[in-house]
Amino acid sequence: MDALRHTFEQRLAAALPGVEITLERPKTGELGDLAFPCFRAAKQLGKNPAQLSQELAGAIAIEGATLAAAGPYLNLKLAPETRAQAVLGAILEAPVGRPYGSRAANGKKVIVEYSSPNIAKLFTIGHLRSTMIGHTLAQAHQFLGYEVIRLNHLGDWGTQFGTLLAAYTRWAQDGNADLEQDFDWAEPAPEKRRTPLFRLFQLYVRFHAEEESDPAMRDEARGWFRRLEEGDAEARRLWSWFRKISLREFQRIYDRLGVSFDTLEQGEAFYEDQLVPTMQRLENAGLLVEGNNGARIVDLEDVGITTPCLVQKADGTSIYATRDLAAALYRKDAYGFDRCLYVVGTDQVLHFQQIFAVLDKLDPWFKGRMLHTPFGMVKLPEGKMSTRKGNVIFLEDVLDEARERVAAIIAEKNPDLKDKEAVAEMLGMGAVVFFDAMNDRVKPITFTWDRVIALDGDTGPYVQYAHARILSVLRKAGGEWAAKAQAGAAIGPFLPFVELALPADLDGLAAPEAQALLFELAGLPGAIAAVADGCMATPLARQLVALARSFSGYYTNCPILAAENTPEVREARLTLCVATARALRQGLYLMGIQAPEEM
Ligand code: ARG
Repeated sequence: MDALRHTFEQRLAAALPGVEITLERPKTGELGDLAFPCFRAAKQLGKNPAQLSQELAGAIAIEGATLAAAGPYLNLKLAPETRAQAVLGAILEAPVGRPYGSRAANGKKVIVEYSSPNIAKLFTIGHLRSTMIGHTLAQAHQFLGYEVIRLNHLGDWGTQFGTLLAAYTRWAQDGNADLEQDFDWAEPAPEKRRTPLFRLFQLYVRFHAEEESDPAMRDEARGWFRRLEEGDAEARRLWSWFRKISLREFQRIYDRLGVSFDTLEQGEAFYEDQLVPTMQRLENAGLLVEGNNGARIVDLEDVGITTPCLVQKADGTSIYATRDLAAALYRKDAYGFDRCLYVVGTDQVLHFQQIFAVLDKLDPWFKGRMLHTPFGMVKLPEGKMSTRKGNVIFLEDVLDEARERVAAIIAEKNPDLKDKEAVAEMLGMGAVVFFDAMNDRVKPITFTWDRVIALDGDTGPYVQYAHARILSVLRKAGGEWAAKAQAGAAIGPFLPFVELALPADLDGLAAPEAQALLFELAGLPGAIAAVADGCMATPLARQLVALARSFSGYYTNCPILAAENTPEVREARLTLCVATARALRQGLYLMGIQAPEEM
């Protein structure tokens, strides 16, 4: 396909000297494989776009393809045989270690910072977005040849620890004296509702509730945070214990989600000893000014940001922004990145505008390298979720419920399925994670159980089903094909499946449904590139749905194992099955979703 694109571009460039040539993908394979929108060229030449596309259709000829004008578009459409060869060739002949759609190392380094939960709180459905969007961005960048550094800016420092310390010390005797002993490190993690972390979280919620009627408690919390910042031994001891039990819980969730980071040691607390030097640098650069009642700020009026960036509170304590500045400076020295992506909700847009503006002032190196990729918040039908108020949906509850719902369906429809539990987990996870990705990244999501765990329609399980169905066809085909199905399931997606040659005879793929499937396969690399370019998972999720849907059309209309098929037709059709399974599996893998062999 790349070679054809190149030829098409060259012919267009020759016909339109001085015009920049950009190609698009037509909406359907019926229209063609590549499209040249004539608007810009027509404007430059003072012509009507539809007229220009007509002229070009008459003037350019490319072997194995037809050129046709469709209004202002010039469409290039491959002959069925050529399309099959180009697409299957690209998938089957992808070199070892360089699967279809991937690119060679480009020498660029990207930091993807994602998930970043606050410790001593439980993972809510809200945390899924940053975690999985970030994971997909990291995977896609790596696939496209970037060196990727996966960081988690854990919220393990800040005034909320004052609250937690105050709550804990206040009520440790109050039915919670056993809390610290309660935890046997050698045992597997206890049931989710019994974890010390959950009980700590309850104390935190209780503190906020009681504080409403007793404002003195606020000073108590502030006092504890000051003690923590000053290195008080008891405050430190408890803090590191909070941190330890939190990380243990988070790790369990990350393992379940199949997500990992280069380190979990670069949370906010990590920058503690860099806060004074960071302030000093701001001071030296003449950026620090005295704000209201003794606070220290960086003024950003001159760059159009009317709210100054607060970097130190009146009582001398650091804040969230100070730690983000320190983190960025540290990352420059430690990694020297080309791009740093912050996968954080839309509620922090201003925060990142401020941080990036301060960094630009401090060191022009940062210009254009920092990118906040905001995502819409998850809301409940009754309004915002609030950990403080305790009205949250826990992520684990959602994943468990999804797994239960799938398990109930399996029990009814396919009770003899192998590894039922593992499959239920993969499908449940597929439903939840895919739902998230299908949503426009920046729009808020209203959580309802039935929406988030939908199993029909444009869902993860629908895509997973297409994959499993293909493997089942291959098993039925027997012999070598069955072996291919197994190898396909066992080998990780960054590796090629077992060797498979391009069949000499591709006539079996001339039907429109086979051609439509080939067209969608051709769209996969562009969808993966769009994930990295647009910093969102949606284009990939949509492409996978389109692939699954066109596979279903193919399966219905092009009998694969029918007795009347010639061996050539059978081989060509099975080969398209293998290529499709490979593409689906790879796409799901990039999104952090596993594809069961059977379901
Ligand atoms: N811990 C923060 C929160 O839960 C998110 C941190 C985002 N990353 C950052 N570099 N500020 O809201």
